[in-house]
Amino acid sequence: MIFEAAGCVRCHAPTLVTSDYPDVPELANQTIHPYTDMLLHDLGQRLTDGRSDFLGYGAEWQTPPLWGIGLSTTVNGHGNFLHDGRARSIMEAILWHDAEAQRPREYVQALGAADRDAPLAFRHSL
Ligand code: HEC
Repeated sequence: MIFEAAGCVRCHAPTLVTSDYPDVPELANQTIHPYTDMLLHDLGQRLTDGRSDFLGYGAEWQTPPLWGIGLSTTVNGHGNFLHDGRARSIMEAILWHDAEAQRPREYVQALGAADRDAPLAFRHSL
């Protein structure tokens, strides 16, 4: 509920349905829960690398899927997040969110300790 109320779901969309895909029908019209909209978003100057990549300019990044994020340390051997690995925890990754994601970040910062831990526990379960 907090993940939704904070507005995280605007970009980290919980549910998507795959398109028609006649070449591999097993993948067509499947409901998945990737927690991404797969789109580019401006997360602010603090995250810019100052260079454009294809359609994205320096401060724009594609929303990464959060599914499986709870297993990152096990799978990757580290718990670093964001495009350059600068965030050493999920909470640190959230605190880097700015610009289009400023309000969700401020919402999380204004939560009491118990409410802040609840969405973290939720994300570790993904
Ligand atoms: C405006 C879109 C947007 C909103 C709203 C948003 N995010 Fe993100 N999120 C992104 C993008 C884009 C990135 C990738 C940034 C980067 O790599 O530097 C990201 C990265 C992350 C990551 C790091 C994932 C990884 O694999 O590195 C976490 C965790 C995360 N977001 C959680 C949240 C939470 C929790 C909220 C709500 C408080 C939230 N986000 C709101 C767009 C958004």
